[in-house]
Order: sequence, then C-alpha cells, then structure tokens
Amino acid sequence: MTTKVEKSVEVDVPVRTAYNQWTQFEEFPDFMGGVESVTQRDDRTLHWVAAIAGVRREWDAEILEQVPDEKVAWAATSGATNAGAVHFIPNGPGQTLVTLHLEFEPEGLVEKAGDALNVVERQTEADLANFKSFIESRGAETGAWRGEVRAGSALGTPGVADTVPPGQDVVDVLTADHREVAGLIGEIWTTQDPGERRDLADTAIAELVRHAVAEEMYVYPAMRKHLADGDEAVEHDVEEHQQLEELMKQFEGVEGSDPRFNELLRKLDTVLADHISDEETKHFPQLRAALPESELVELAGKVESAKKLAPTRPHPAAPNHELFHKLVGPGVGMVDRLRDKLTGRTTS
Ligand SMILES: [Fe+2]
Ligand SMILES: [Fe+2]
Repeated sequence: MTTKVEKSVEVDVPVRTAYNQWTQFEEFPDFMGGVESVTQRDDRTLHWVAAIAGVRREWDAEILEQVPDEKVAWAATSGATNAGAVHFIPNGPGQTLVTLHLEFEPEGLVEKAGDALNVVERQTEADLANFKSFIESRGAETGAWRGEVRAGSALGTPGVADTVPPGQDVVDVLTADHREVAGLIGEIWTTQDPGERRDLADTAIAELVRHAVAEEMYVYPAMRKHLADGDEAVEHDVEEHQQLEELMKQFEGVEGSDPRFNELLRKLDTVLADHISDEETKHFPQLRAALPESELVELAGKVESAKKLAPTRPHPAAPNHELFHKLVGPGVGMVDRLRDKLTGRTTS
C-alpha cells in the first residue's frame, strides 16, 4: 500500500528562481534532511541515497515530466518504491507557492519508525522550510536547467521555455483566449447543475481577468504606439474592460441557482461579444499590419508570461484545484485577488 503526503510552502522569490533551484538535484542534500546524495546521471536519471528514521535507502529515479516554472515529477525505477512531484504556482511577481507531493511504500520504515506517515510528513515539512530559508537567504538560484521533459515524450530543447506554440503571434494567443472564454460561457448556458455552472463561471472569470490584465500590460501600450488612432482605440477598450470587470464583480458571488445568475451571464456575454468583435475585426488586424512579425511573436511570449503570474482555475477534479483555492479562491473578491496577483498590487 502506498502512502501519500502533500505539503506546501510560500517562498518569497519569483517562480523562476524557485523552479531553477529545484532543477539542481545534486544540491538537494543542502536542504533535504535525510538525503545523503543525489547524483544526476543524465537529464532524465537520478540516483538517490537517503536515510529516513535511520532506514538507509538507495534508488534510481526517472524524471517523468519537467516543465519550466510549473512542475517536476519523478518516480523510482529501482529500489524503494516512491514517486513525487513538485508544483510551482506564482503568487504575484515575487512569491511562489511550492507544493511537494510524495508517494511511498512504507515497508521498512514501519518497523523502524512505527508511524511512517508521521515521520515522512514531518520530514517533508522540514525540507520545505529548509528550502524556503535556503533560497530566500541566497535570493538567487545556484544554477538552472531550463530544458523540458514532457510525459511520454522525448527531451525538449534546453534553455527554451515552451509557452507559446511555434509560429504563433500575439493575435493568435489573444484570439485563442477569446475562444476559450466564449466557449466556457457557451458551456454554462447548456449546463443545468448550479454547482457546475458556478465552477464554469469562476473558470471563465479567472481566464478573462488574466487575459484582460495581460492585454493592458502589453497589448494596449503597443496599440497606443503603433496604431494611427491608438490612444482613442485603447481608451475605448479600457472602458469596456472596466465594464466587464464591474459585471464580473457583481457575478462572482452569485449562486448558480440564483435568478440573477442568468441575467448577469447574459450581460457579460453581450458586452464580451461586442468587445471581442472590436478587437478581432479592428484592433488586432491593425496591430498585425503595423508591427513586424518578430515583435508580434515577442509580445505573444510577454502575454503568456503575464498570464502565468496568476493561476488558471483548473477543473475541480484536477490535482492543483486545491492550490487555486489556497491562492485565489472563488467567491466575492476573486476578481480583485486575481488582479492583485497579476499586477503585484497589494491590498491592505
Ligand atoms: Fe480586451
Ligand atoms: Fe481581448
């Protein structure tokens, strides 16, 4: 029987720093109690030697998945049965929630320690606290590997963060966001269950806030700079964003069974459709005509990075669903909390 442990810690460094440090496997003994050594054999294979509660264990582990600034997952391929994953969720520009999930076979530990779960839980907590003081006192990582390992796929290219699909520019990225939010709203209309409707509404709101803030940070300044009537266009768009935000705030705490739910959804749907049409038929084509391809692609990366400063709301069954609740939480105030995460704004 395997036992599972999940612990989180908030560290006061940007997500990139926290993630980069975690790619330096051979330095794990510096902050992980009980880990005697980790030897990196190649990009995907590690050899671990650890002693927990006096039980010495040795095993080979394979990296199953590694996505820069998001996660690392591994599993033992020999020796003691165990697997783990660490997830990184940015909590604004200078803070990261690090969550460690461990799964292990308690044989051996049980005889020695009696309560293996308790021992591993305490050890995991201590390791995360050590990681926090290690990285916060340094303020910078000791090294980085920015390559990618995708589940069931070959190795990615080291040094390349793969957030924007190749060949896509900022207009592709923003248009895909529009389709996603419009799709979610369409799904709400066809869903009967009030709880599910509320979940879908929270997902749509979270996506829309991330999208709007990214546009305001990077796309609107580019429109002001490059479009003939840029200032006017941006003022119009910003006004519509404010209208959308106002509607989302009215909408965020309303139950799926409340009669106001449909009324607010209809309003949001109408204003959003109008705004999307303005952007897609006027402003985006103008932007594409005015900016060189290389800049449009660069903007796509900036928009994706800006969106990553706040978590997306995953499906309720997804493993990081709880993390979203910890960091943002649906309900009244969600729009403001998301905006704070995205802009690094602090509310008192
Ligand atoms: Fe917009
Ligand atoms: Fe937009």
